[in-house]
Amino acid sequence: MKRRLLAAALLLCMTAPLLKADEGMWLPALISQRIGDMQAKGFKLTAEDIYSVNQASLKDAVVLFGSGCTGELVSGEGLLFTNHHCGYSYIQRHSSVEHDYLKDGFWALTRADELPNPGLTVRFLERMEDVTAVVLKGYKAKMTEDQRQELVKKNARKLRDQIEKEGNGIKTSVEALYYGNQYFLFVFREYRDVRLVGAPPSSIGKFGGETDNWMWPRHTGDFSIFRIYAGPDNLPADYSVDNVPYRPKKFMKISTAGVKEGDFTFVYGCPGSTQEYVHSEAVRYIQDVSDPEKIALRTARLNLMKKYMDQSQAVRIQYSSKYASVANAWKKWQGEEKGLRKNLVVPVKQEYEKRFEEWAVGTRYEGLTTRLAQLYAARNPIYRAYEYYNETVRAVEKIQKGMGRVVLAKDYYQPIDEEIFVAMMEAFDKALDDSYKPAYFLETRAEFGGNMEVWKDSVFANPERAKALAVALDKHYSQQIAPVVKELSQSITLLYRDYMQGQMEFEPQKAFYPDANLTLRVAYGKVEGYQPLDAVYYRPVSTLKGIIEKDNPDIFDYNIPQVLRDIYARGGFQDQPVCFLATNHTTGGNSGSPVLNADGHLIGINFDRVWEGTMSDLVFDPEICRNISLDVRYLLFVIKEVGHADYLFNEMVFVN
Ligand code: ARG
Ligand code: ASP
Repeated sequence: MKRRLLAAALLLCMTAPLLKADEGMWLPALISQRIGDMQAKGFKLTAEDIYSVNQASLKDAVVLFGSGCTGELVSGEGLLFTNHHCGYSYIQRHSSVEHDYLKDGFWALTRADELPNPGLTVRFLERMEDVTAVVLKGYKAKMTEDQRQELVKKNARKLRDQIEKEGNGIKTSVEALYYGNQYFLFVFREYRDVRLVGAPPSSIGKFGGETDNWMWPRHTGDFSIFRIYAGPDNLPADYSVDNVPYRPKKFMKISTAGVKEGDFTFVYGCPGSTQEYVHSEAVRYIQDVSDPEKIALRTARLNLMKKYMDQSQAVRIQYSSKYASVANAWKKWQGEEKGLRKNLVVPVKQEYEKRFEEWAVGTRYEGLTTRLAQLYAARNPIYRAYEYYNETVRAVEKIQKGMGRVVLAKDYYQPIDEEIFVAMMEAFDKALDDSYKPAYFLETRAEFGGNMEVWKDSVFANPERAKALAVALDKHYSQQIAPVVKELSQSITLLYRDYMQGQMEFEPQKAFYPDANLTLRVAYGKVEGYQPLDAVYYRPVSTLKGIIEKDNPDIFDYNIPQVLRDIYARGGFQDQPVCFLATNHTTGGNSGSPVLNADGHLIGINFDRVWEGTMSDLVFDPEICRNISLDVRYLLFVIKEVGHADYLFNEMVFVN
C-alpha cells in the first residue's frame, strides 16, 4: 500500500505543474510577474495598485505590527486592525483587577481614552529594491564566506546609513533572499506612538483558546484595534498629548458583501519564516527527530502547567500567556510532522535530488546534494543538543533567572517550576551524551547520586546553587554548543546558495519565490474548504450558530459572554459569519494581515492555519493547506453589538 502511494505521489510530482496552485509568497515589488495569474484567477486590480513607489498603493495601508505581526489601516485617521493575539500583551499591560480589559474587553469612547503603548512600533514600507550589485561590490571569487559576509555587512551599512540619515523615523534593512543569491533593501517609516482603541473580551478574541487553536471549525473573534499617532507634520514622533492621528497615504475600504466558496482572496502581510527548498535530510530530521522530541518534551511541560492551572484561577491567569506560547508551536509541530509523512515529502525530495544530480553531472552543481546530506549528518547530533537545551534547561524559569533573564514574580508559581525542573533536567540528562553537558553538571549530578528530586530541592532552597547551575549550563550552551551550530549552519547556507541557484537552472520554467523572512509579501488563492479525513468535508465559512453550539459555561475556553447568548436568543443572527478558510500560503507573522477580495477591499483578518496543513512551511499541499481568517463582518458585529462602539464606523469606508 505504502509503496503504491509513494509511486503515485512521485508520478504526480513529476507530471503536475511545477508550482502547485496557490503556493507562494511573492515580493510586492515583483508582483508584475504574477499579476497575469492573479487576474486570470479573478483579481481586478493592477500591479501598481498593490505596490507602487510613485502613487499611493495598498502597501501603504499595511504595517509590520510590533516585532512579528501584521496590521492594516482602515481609516484616514490612523485606525488599524490586527489580531487579538497580536495586541494581547498590550491589552494585558493595561489590565488590572479593577479594569480587566482582557476579561471584559476595552473600548475607548473618545480619542483621549485611547491608551499609549510604550515600545510598540509599526513600520510602513516606503520601498524595496534589489541591491545585490551594491552589497556585493568588491566581491572576489576567492573570498571566504566570512570575508563575503563582512563585505556585505559593510556595503549594506554604508547604503543604510545614507538613507537613515534622513531621520523622521526612516529605518532600513538589507535582507538576503535565496540564501544570499540576491539582496533586497527595505526602507521603512516607523511610527512609535500607537494607542489601543478597542479589544473584545478574551471570551470572544480568544474564544476556543488552545483547544481550537490551529483548528477548524473555528469561531475566534481574533481582533484588536489600535490607532497610529504622529506629530502635527504627520511624521513619526515620541508619544505626546499634542500628537494627532496619523493620516495614511492609503487605507483599506471594508467590504460588507461577504465571501463565498471560490471567491478570489489575497493576503498582504509579513510572513516570518519558511524553508521550501531544503534538502530531504533537513526534512527527515524535522519529521523524525526534532518535531517528535520537542512535542514530547512540551507535552510533559504543558501537563504540569495544566495540573496547577486547573486547580486555581489565580495560577491560570499567571500562566495563561506562557501556556499559550508553549502550546502554540507544540500543536503546530504535530500537524507538521503528520503532514510531512502524509505527503511523503522525504521520498519525494529524495527522488527530486536524484533527478537533480543526474542533470547536474559536469556542472558546478554536481554532488551538491550529497555534500548537503553529509553536512546534515555532521550537524544533526549537536543541533539536537542545541534544541534540547532550548526545550529543557532553558524552559526552567529558575534557570532563566539564574541566566539573568527577567522572570516576573507576579506570573511565577514555584510548584510548577519545581516539577518542570525535575522533568526537564531528567529528559536533558537522559537524551544527551555527557559530552554535551558542562563539567559542573556532571559533578553535581554525581554529588546527588543522579537524583533530580534532591538536586531540585537544593537548587530551589539555595540561590547560589541555582545560579551556579544556570551559569554553567548557559556558558556551555553559548560557548560549546551554539557557536558550533552556527558554524555548521553557515556552511549549510553556503551550499544552499549554490543549490538554490542550481534548482532554478534545473527548473527554468518554474516560478520561484524567496523563503519568508518577515518581509512584505503577497499570497493569493481562493475561499475553499478541505477534506481533513476520509468522508469528511469542511465547509469554509463558520457562523454564530457554531459559537452557540460550543458555548459551555463550565469550560473556560468555551464560556462566552452573556451578551452573545442574549443577542442570539433575540434572533436574527444565526447566520452571522465568523471565520472563513482560504488557500492563501501564509505562515507565522501573517497574523493580523489583511485579507482582500478581487477589488482590493478588506474581507477579513488572517490569524491562523489549519493544523493538518502546517507543513506548508516546508511544502505546500493545495489540497489541505488553508489559512484561517476572521470575517470582517464578525468584527463589525462585535464592535456594534458587544462593544457598542459603532461610533468607530464613522471613520471607516464601507463598500458592498
Ligand atoms: N496559531 C496561531 C498562531 O500561530 C494563533 C496563536 C494564538 N492563539 C492561541 N490560542 N495560542 O499564531
Ligand atoms: N497564527 C500565526 C501568527 O501569529 C499565523 C500562522 O502561523 O498561520 O502569525
